[in-house]
Amino acid sequence: MAALDKASVVAVIGSGAMGSGIAQVAAAAGHTVKLYDTRAEAVHKAIADIAKVYQKLVHKERMSAADAQAATARLQAADGLAGMADAALVVEAIVENLDVKRSLFADLEGIVGDECILATNTSSISVTAIAARLRRPQRLVGMHFFNPVPLMALVEVISGLATEPAVAETVSDTAVAWGKNPVYAKSTPGFIVNRVARPYYAEGLRLLNEQAADAATIDAVMREAGGFRMGPFELMDLIGHDVNYSVTQSVFNAYYSDPRFTPSVIQQELVNAGFLGRKSGRGFYAYGDGAVVPPAQSEAAQARPEYVSYSVEPGASGASCVTDAVLARFQERGIAVTLRKASEAHGHAAAIVQEHAPAFHCNGAAVYLTDGRSATQRAADNKHPDTVVFDLAYDYGKATRIAIAAADQCSASAYSAVVGLFQAAGFAVTKLDDVPGLAVMRTVAMLANEAADAVNQGVCSAQGADVAMQKGVNYPRGPLAWADAVGVDRIATVLGNLAAAYGEDRYRVSPLLRRKQASGAKFHA
Ligand code: NAI
Repeated sequence: MAALDKASVVAVIGSGAMGSGIAQVAAAAGHTVKLYDTRAEAVHKAIADIAKVYQKLVHKERMSAADAQAATARLQAADGLAGMADAALVVEAIVENLDVKRSLFADLEGIVGDECILATNTSSISVTAIAARLRRPQRLVGMHFFNPVPLMALVEVISGLATEPAVAETVSDTAVAWGKNPVYAKSTPGFIVNRVARPYYAEGLRLLNEQAADAATIDAVMREAGGFRMGPFELMDLIGHDVNYSVTQSVFNAYYSDPRFTPSVIQQELVNAGFLGRKSGRGFYAYGDGAVVPPAQSEAAQARPEYVSYSVEPGASGASCVTDAVLARFQERGIAVTLRKASEAHGHAAAIVQEHAPAFHCNGAAVYLTDGRSATQRAADNKHPDTVVFDLAYDYGKATRIAIAAADQCSASAYSAVVGLFQAAGFAVTKLDDVPGLAVMRTVAMLANEAADAVNQGVCSAQGADVAMQKGVNYPRGPLAWADAVGVDRIATVLGNLAAAYGEDRYRVSPLLRRKQASGAKFHA
């Protein structure tokens, strides 16, 4: 199968935010594009706006003047569906309503040729259901673009139960020809992105609900340690709480109230109040004149400790990749890092190394990468009160912030030494309340778990899941590649400990993660 010929006519039904973006991309790729909308003025506005965008691209030297003129000339306003008879592909981007979409496609079937591909840009309705009453349901496929269409590379190509594979392939190849990055998905609630991304918002909301820190502080941790472009709260404010809450509810309902997708009462209250985010001037943050962005909380400067030591369990293979990266940063910043045999370490260390060697010791504090237990729990398990845990970072060498939590039993002096240590290594240090799994680790573990389940259920491939999250929502790394990098075993351990800490099915480990853990295999070879 190959992409649609450039000479083929593409029809776009609906000229709102999505339809006009799709028309812009298709016309720029060389197709004659026929635009239709029940509101004729929407079509004319879309064409005028697209022409302006092309002109801007000419000014930025990203499009030639001749190409801009030709692409603009290829945009045609249609005054009814009858004009779509010669289309090879129809992309529907109308109101998100099953009955209205079904009726549109039924009308189109009476107009277009048998070979014409019918595509829906729905973000939440079953592609199978939209196709169900068609004469030829095999030619209907999901072509799910992301907003803003010209800037977001991802297109989810979604097959319903009846969709012919060749149709999905043509749409995928055509998306490539349009400069997009398509991934295949099976028609299931939320498809890939709107399902796998749920924990990004949900874990943030739970952290806030449990008073781990305020929204601005959690956002800063997710950006500056996690490497995400936006923290969950500023992102939800941008998306709009009405939209984000309704997507969460729809996925939750569609999966028969699976606790993994439980909506948050915090978000429900924002919707109740009409605090919808940027568009209403208030969400987690205030917007508009005089609004100030609250600062992220960081610990006050503490004295730099003289050295850190790490102990390796006799016979163990040595420090983990994370420990290596953190210790390397300490060393780079001139902090002495010494290796001690477990037997020489502080009296308590022998007990500690029986579970996992801590990342390191600092002034009597045992410091661990979080494994999903709270620091308090870990201190109790190890009978070592001075326990501090630190969060995952996307890149320990470059992160500007790190989140840590101290056990309730931890002495102030041991805690301060650990703060001083991370500060000496150039991190802003955020103290989270002692929540299990901290912020980045807990979120990444849940993202990887959801992606693993989608793969396990045949919704998409591991590669597809990772590409979707990088290209659809700009994650710094695909969740499964992230699990590979951190260690699948570690991710499964974090989830298992979260499940134990909360006693909730929400944190159950995906069978595919368990399987990779048992075999030692990675998601990506
Ligand atoms: P929009 O409200 O900006 O535009 C929809 C347009 O469709 C309006 O101009 C409306 O007049 C027109 N319309 C409604 N019923 C029609 C019909 N029967 N025939 C012809 N035109 C009709 O909506 P938007 O945001 O562009 O969304 C369109 C579709 O794309 C929806 O299915 C939505 O779920 C989906 N989508 C939206 C995304 C977003 O971020 N806005 C992202 C991905 C998908």
